[in-house]
Amino acid sequence: MRKPFIAGNWKMHKTVVEAVDLAVALKAALADVSTMDLAVCPTATALEAVSHVLTNTNIGVGAQNMYWEDSGAFTGEISPLMVKELATYVILGHSERRQYFGETDATVNLKLKAAIRHGLTPIVCIGESLAQNEAGETVPFVGNQIRGAFAGISQQDAGKVVLAYEPIWAIGTGRTAMPADADRIIREAIRDVLRDLYGEATAQAIRVQYGGSVKPGNMADFIVMPEIDGALVGGASLKVEDFAGIVSNAAQALKA
Ligand code: PGA
Repeated sequence: MRKPFIAGNWKMHKTVVEAVDLAVALKAALADVSTMDLAVCPTATALEAVSHVLTNTNIGVGAQNMYWEDSGAFTGEISPLMVKELATYVILGHSERRQYFGETDATVNLKLKAAIRHGLTPIVCIGESLAQNEAGETVPFVGNQIRGAFAGISQQDAGKVVLAYEPIWAIGTGRTAMPADADRIIREAIRDVLRDLYGEATAQAIRVQYGGSVKPGNMADFIVMPEIDGALVGGASLKVEDFAGIVSNAAQALKA
């Protein structure tokens, strides 16, 4: 059984003061949740303050990105060693990083290796564009993203990775994939490829979140799908009542 995992991606929102306020409120609102793993991913400047608030709670902290080298002349970048002081998770290859900051499957692969090397739990994002979706290219495209991200990663290390399937056309648009479609794509483009690379046990052990306009009102429809193990939430993770609503609706749907 894969333990459900819901993470909030705060993107480039919240000053340190605002981030601390949200973390304090989430800590109280989510204190009773034990059936799911939870995490928030603030912007880099707020990582230290938020991780301080959430120390010894049931909410983990993640970075939204990092570089793959441990140190050096890489102005503006943050290394895995720096992330590791403040966080346990790191989002890698988010579609906004790929779209606006030139990330490729090859750089995601370097970052994934660095995360594993330093004991961080990576949340690797994959997903197709609207054009690829409409052209029926989703399964081969996402499958290739998986093969690219996992190149040279051992079976043992692969089992430590979390994936987030986020169709790009559903991110921040209010449009969500149909839960059954997302479930099928995760099965055909992600688990089938993972099985091919690592065998059945590893393919079944890796958690796959859905992401893209997840809200309290649609979380239950996604979490009940057999292949969907949680969510990576953007916009709705910025408000305590929305994120807490997503978590409690997921917990309720799983109990039913
Ligand atoms: P959204 O973002 O929930 O605002 O669509 C999801 C994401 O980008 O991780």
